[in-house]
Amino acid sequence: MAHSDLDQAAKAILTENDQGGYTIPTKGLYPYQWNWDSVFVALGFAEFDQDRAWQEIEMLFQGQWRDGMVPHILFRKDDPSYFPGPGVWGTDGGPIPSSGHSQPPVAASVVHSLVEADRTGKALERAKALLPKLMAWHRWYLAYRDPKNLGVIAVIHPWESGRDNLPDWDEALRAVEVKDIGPYERKDTSHVDPAMRPHKEDYDRYLSIVAACRKVGWDPEKVAETCPFFVADPGVTFIFLRANRDLLALAEKLGMSAEADEIRGWIAAMEKGSRTLWNDEVKAHVAFDERRGKQTDGISSASFLALYAGLHDPQTLGALQAHFDRIAERVEYLMPSYDPDHRSYEPLRYWRGPVWAMINYMIAKGFAEAGDAVRAERLRADTARLIETGGFAEYFSPETGAGAGGGSFSWTSAIWLTWASPSHAEQAA
Ligand code: GLC
Repeated sequence: MAHSDLDQAAKAILTENDQGGYTIPTKGLYPYQWNWDSVFVALGFAEFDQDRAWQEIEMLFQGQWRDGMVPHILFRKDDPSYFPGPGVWGTDGGPIPSSGHSQPPVAASVVHSLVEADRTGKALERAKALLPKLMAWHRWYLAYRDPKNLGVIAVIHPWESGRDNLPDWDEALRAVEVKDIGPYERKDTSHVDPAMRPHKEDYDRYLSIVAACRKVGWDPEKVAETCPFFVADPGVTFIFLRANRDLLALAEKLGMSAEADEIRGWIAAMEKGSRTLWNDEVKAHVAFDERRGKQTDGISSASFLALYAGLHDPQTLGALQAHFDRIAERVEYLMPSYDPDHRSYEPLRYWRGPVWAMINYMIAKGFAEAGDAVRAERLRADTARLIETGGFAEYFSPETGAGAGGGSFSWTSAIWLTWASPSHAEQAA
């Protein structure tokens, strides 16, 4: 397909998955509004309808909880084709039925991008209305996902990381006792090949964590204290650090000096804390199980997000460039979600190896900002080749380029439009 045809196809997918102001990730497999999916989707809409882009984020924040949390799924209407639905979560924290935890906070960064690219003249006004909500969400992250002020952000569920079955969670997840879940029927494996989805043993534990949090009424303080899973995630930590920098830029632009001062404090603490995720043996930032005091030993695609977070001192940059080149020798398409030289790597199982377009977009941004335009462009070109080969799939094999998981996927289409498409690159040049 010619690039312009792919541009049209990507727009058609977004329009098709639009439910009237918010967008589902894909039909069948994911019939609700997901947090970070929607935020990336806004970048795609911004290429042809900026008003619609803002609306996507505004509708996501309609589901914000009273304590500041923005949930990972908003169940605007019940859909029996998805499990676990609102009945399993049993939450009561906000105005719209939802799941009980969050997802990576990319929203402030995308709001900042929308302001920078504005053609409507209304962006600052809309950003101003969102700013207190973004502040509340970021404060919630600091209070309840970093209660000991370590300067790193933990996730209370693998789903909160957005990287569901990442090998980094394996050990901490095995320690979760399977209980209070009863019999249940998964729906995901009826939509896609089970070989591409998490195992049943993982699923039992995913649901056991939900049950444990439901037991304490999703009270954020109690969840932070008692949740059986509490792992500092380099992915959420780096995305949050970056989001704080973008939030600061917005607060400064809007002349909100008290907020700007508060955010500067967060950035300083996170810059310091996130360095504790460095594993000197593997020479990258890794996850840290706060309950057991144990670091993981694998490099994931999120390790490369250190650059996106603005940590591009020579040691970090040099180590990541070396890993990048080593991995590029091992697979055809970058960046696999897990290190292909690690024992846990599986090229087609979701977050244990496949390439995800929106992660590539963030990694490339980081390399470009660190002054490495060559590796940034390699990521863009690989992402474009993957979409040309595998279509607008949920994710891709780093070895064959085959598209996997769900098809006609919203964030893959959005990332094509905002970054990967050669027609976008030509426009920007
Ligand atoms: C899967 C992904 C998650 C995504 C969701 C909807 O759960 O792991 O990151 O948000 O699907 O696309």
